[in-house]
Amino acid sequence: MQTILITGGAGFIGSHLTRLFVTKYPQYKIVNLDALTYAGNLSNLKDIEDAPNYTFVKGDITDMALVQQLFAEHQFTGVLHCAAESHVDRSITDPLAFVRTNVMGTSTLLLAAKESWKGDFTNKLFYHISTDEVYGSLGETGFFYENTAYDPRSPYSASKASSDHFVRAFYHTYGLPIKISNCSNNYGPYHFPEKLIPLSINNIINNKPLPIYGKGENIRDWLFVEDHAGAIDLIYHKGIIGETYNIGGHNEWTNIDLIKELCRQMDAKLGKPAGTSEKLITYVTDRAGHDMRYAIDATKLKEELGWMPSLQFEEGLSKTIDWYLNNPEWLNNVVSGNYAAYYEDQYHKR
Ligand code: NAD
Ligand code: TYD
Repeated sequence: MQTILITGGAGFIGSHLTRLFVTKYPQYKIVNLDALTYAGNLSNLKDIEDAPNYTFVKGDITDMALVQQLFAEHQFTGVLHCAAESHVDRSITDPLAFVRTNVMGTSTLLLAAKESWKGDFTNKLFYHISTDEVYGSLGETGFFYENTAYDPRSPYSASKASSDHFVRAFYHTYGLPIKISNCSNNYGPYHFPEKLIPLSINNIINNKPLPIYGKGENIRDWLFVEDHAGAIDLIYHKGIIGETYNIGGHNEWTNIDLIKELCRQMDAKLGKPAGTSEKLITYVTDRAGHDMRYAIDATKLKEELGWMPSLQFEEGLSKTIDWYLNNPEWLNNVVSGNYAAYYEDQYHKR
C-alpha cells in the first residue's frame, strides 16, 4: 500500500503520470497537488477525476503549512514531484517566478518530506522529475550522460539545476531517499499550445503563421509523453535510491525539419494539397541565449532497467495531431485568457 503525492498533476506530463498511476495501481492512493497556473488544467484529468483512489488538492507547493498539513493527513510514502514553471520563453520574461516555484517549491517539499518521515525512510521515496536542459547546450556531436557537468544557460534550466542540487543535497545531508530523472523534450496530447509542437498544430488548424526562432537549426531530442511516464513508473519502482537516470528516445530533429514533417502530416490529414501548411512557416527573432542542441544518452536506463521508448516519432506525431484534431473544445478552452495575452506579447513585435 502506498500513498503518493503527485505535484503538478494537472499539467502536461503530470496528467499523463497521474492517469498512469491511478489506473495501473488501484491499490495506491494518489493525491494531486496543483496550483492550476495557466499550465494546469483539470480537464486533462476528466477521465479519472472520480476514481476512488484519486484526490485533487488545489494549492501551491511553496505553501509550507499546506504541504505539511497534507503530509500529516495522508502520511505519504512517496512524492512524484512534477510541478514546475516549465517554459523557457516565460523564464526569460519572469525569472523570479521560476526561482519561486522550481527552487523554493522543491525545497519546501523536500523539507516537509524530511520532517514528516522523521528519519524513518523505510519504503519512502522522493522522486524529482527534471530536464536535460540542466546540462546546457551541445555542439554538433556528443550526448548528455548522467555525469555530464551541469551548465544551465536559461533562467528555466538554472532553476531546474538548482532544484536538482537541492534534491541531491537532501540525500547526502539527511539521507532522504531520492531519485532524479532528466528527460528530453516531450510531446503528445494535453501539451499546452505555447510550446513548439502544439503551438504549430493549433496555428496550422487556424491558418496562422508558424514562428520559427532564428534559422530553425536548433536541435531537440523528442520523446512521446507516455513513454516518459512509463520510464518514471519503472524508475520509481525499480531504480536505485540516490541515482539519476537520463530519459530520451535518440530522436533528434532540427526545429525546421520537425515543423516540415508536421506540415506534411497535417496537410494529409486535413485533405489540403501537399505544401499548403509549409507556406505558414515564418522565421522570427531568435530566443535570447537559445541552446543549440540537446541529445540524451539513455543507455543506463536501457541497460539497468530495460527501458525502451515504444513509439517511433512519425507515429507519435501522428497520434498527437489526431488527438488535437479530435479535441477542439480542449484546444479552444486553453487558447484564451492568460494564454491569449502571453501570445500577443510574445509574437506581435516581430
Ligand atoms: P507544465 O507547465 O505543463 O505543468 C506544470 C504543472 O505544475 C501545472 O499543472 C501547473 O499548474 C503546476 N504548477 C506550477 N507551479 C506550481 C506551484 N507553485 N504549485 C503547485 N503547482 C504548480 O509542465 P510539464 O511540461 O508537464 O513539465 C512537468 C515537469 O517535467 C517539470 O518539472 C519540467 O521541468 C519537467 N520536464 C518537462 C519536459 C517537457 O518537454 N515538457 C521535459 C523534461 C522535463
Ligand atoms: P519549446 O517547445 O519551447 O521547448 P524547449 O525550449 O524547452 O526546448 O521549444 C522547442 C524548440 O523550438 C526550441 O529550440 C525553441 C523553438 N521554438 C520555435 O522555433 N518557435 C516557437 O514558437 C517556439 C515556442 C519554440
